[in-house]
Amino acid sequence: MTILCVKRPLGPSLKTSLCAVTIAITLSLSACSSTSKTLYSEIGGQAKVEQITDNFIEEIGYNKHIVRYFEKTDISRFREKLNEHICMVADGPCEYTGDSMENVHAGMDINENHFNLTVDLLINAMTKADIPHSTQNKLLARFAPMRSEIAFK
Ligand code: HEM
Repeated sequence: MTILCVKRPLGPSLKTSLCAVTIAITLSLSACSSTSKTLYSEIGGQAKVEQITDNFIEEIGYNKHIVRYFEKTDISRFREKLNEHICMVADGPCEYTGDSMENVHAGMDINENHFNLTVDLLINAMTKADIPHSTQNKLLARFAPMRSEIAFK
């Protein structure tokens, strides 16, 4: 923490109170920066979320094991809902209006290999969007608990 005091000659009480105000502002700013930065803003906001989703859709298209799950999918809806979902999971300012993870993936018979493969495609998508690895890991950690709702059903 830096403490800045006014250098002009001032009476001792005014000098003390200006220093105190500066300390208070510095403390409140540092408290703000440590608590208000969401994972969403760390990712880079909506533009980056959309880049991740678009890259992910492209990656799915390249993968013969995963693309078969999406044969009947309305991709523009998937794009919209996944954008909202990533935004929500990263504490962004979005409302997720899609279906629950359990309902969406029910009956798809997603096995462990295909779940892991899909996570690899998401990692590729984030890497192509220049998301730092530490930030990628934070997002993956939020998706990890959804595993049991999505796979082995
Ligand atoms: C953490 C992992 C995953 C997340 C967060 C996720 C998220 C989502 C979201 C938000 C949707 C859109 C829901 C809606 O339209 O209401 C969706 C749809 C879909 N997901 Fe996932 N998903 C995951 C893993 C997987 C895996 C492993 C597969 C298959 C290998 C898969 C296959 C699909 C398919 C095929 C759809 C489209 C369903 C349709 O056509 O209506 N997902 N997913």
